Amino acid sequence: MDNDRIDKILQDVLKEVTPSEQEKQETSAILDKVKSATDEILKPFGFSHLVAGSFIRDTWMPDKKEFDVFIMFPKNRSREKLEKEGLEIGKNIVKKLRGKHRIAFAEHPYVRANVNGYEIDIVPCYKVDSALRIKSAVDRTPFHNEWLSKHLFPKFIPEVRLLKQLCKGQGLYGSDTKTLGFSGYLCELLTINYRNFRMLVEAAAKWEPGKVLINLEGFSGFGDIDYLHKKFPKQPLIVIDPVDPGRNVAAALSPENFMRFIFACREFLRKPTRDFFFRKPFQVDVEKLEREMLSRKTKFIGFSFKAPGIIPDILWPQLRRTGKRIRDMFEDNDFRVMNRDVWTNDLDKCIIFFELESWSLPRQRKLVGPSVFSKRHTGEFIEKYKDKGRIWIENEFWVAEVKRTFQEVRPKLKEILTTDEKTLKAKGIASYLAREITKKFDILQERELISHARRYPEFGKLLTDFFEKRVV
Ligand code: CTP
Ligand code: MG
Repeated sequence: MDNDRIDKILQDVLKEVTPSEQEKQETSAILDKVKSATDEILKPFGFSHLVAGSFIRDTWMPDKKEFDVFIMFPKNRSREKLEKEGLEIGKNIVKKLRGKHRIAFAEHPYVRANVNGYEIDIVPCYKVDSALRIKSAVDRTPFHNEWLSKHLFPKFIPEVRLLKQLCKGQGLYGSDTKTLGFSGYLCELLTINYRNFRMLVEAAAKWEPGKVLINLEGFSGFGDIDYLHKKFPKQPLIVIDPVDPGRNVAAALSPENFMRFIFACREFLRKPTRDFFFRKPFQVDVEKLEREMLSRKTKFIGFSFKAPGIIPDILWPQLRRTGKRIRDMFEDNDFRVMNRDVWTNDLDKCIIFFELESWSLPRQRKLVGPSVFSKRHTGEFIEKYKDKGRIWIENEFWVAEVKRTFQEVRPKLKEILTTDEKTLKAKGIASYLAREITKKFDILQERELISHARRYPEFGKLLTDFFEKRVV
């Protein structure tokens, strides 16, 4: 009975996630156009090119109007030359296609084009003999293409689409640093390993963090779990790249998202519905958000600043790292931080914010120092605190009482942020953010955070998740 029900749901979902004939034709027409323009531009250079990713394997999702073209440089080209010529070639291809372009930055700068509504990245890479000898991360992709062309049989294609859609529905699709989820390539390898969507879901319902090893090429030396933990620390799912045994394809997947996926699979098997695949349209209820925020009787404080023009894959980790550093600085000052999060629209606005358990402190602070039996530490303690307040002894320990510099969290945050770029960096504020923060920042408390939630629905959604998130 449930089997029939699951089959019916999967059939329905599949209809929605398979591109129409018309879309397929439109896509292959644009692919042909791009390929021939690229061939022509590359002729004088004698380089080859390669279209990467799901388009050439027919595992792309409807309305996905993005693909990458890799320009294969000889491996002895210098990095500078590759970058310079890569951009020049990219721009010329776009010109030929009458598209628009801009320069984007990842490991190398590259051209991001818009041609007939398609976003095409023209990425320079090195043509190396083996995926083990890559010079930059993108050099692996041609080897993935080749491996998949031999192992991803047509019968797997619908199964891959179902898996990608399940991940999308759960907010887990993408190995980018914002999502920390499942990449398209990972979905393809998982499907090949488990043969079909149904078997994958049944297996995943029983996964345990750090105990799943998928080794499609059967590379030797991965038998020992202790070894795996050392080689891939804190990586809950280990899928050895069939073209490179040193790499875990699931390296980006966070422990939280791994567990979310497992619970989603269990729930789906228990009570299958189509909703697992499609997120309900979301309307931010700002009034509810505000009630929730205020009823917690905690303190919300954060700040906003302009987004530096860097790619999201660099921006998100910089925001998280900076949030963590400021949390530590708050804690050092006895402001206890319960939760924190970061947000950016990847365009012009960044927000880092905290929920505090304590944010207003007494003026006096009592410090317990060394034992009176330790002569050296006693000397140091007295030297440090004798002019700052009273010093006495409790049991065998020195105690000092000093006045706090910051009793309230707001001036503390202001003090942390109001300084020059170099000092901000020395405090651990990530470099690209430090530069923007020195130009301008705004401190946000409850009221301002709520008004941002109103103005930016995506931020409202993040705040809603902040209050409502649960895995079980
Ligand atoms: N890739 C990878 N590891 C990742 C992300 C990407 O190895 N974490 C490589 C793979 O070779 C992949 C290619 O980059 O085929 C293109 O990446 P992307 O467009 O993100 O994935 P697709 O497989 O094309 O999936 P999608 O349908 O989402 O575009
Ligand atoms: Mg792709």
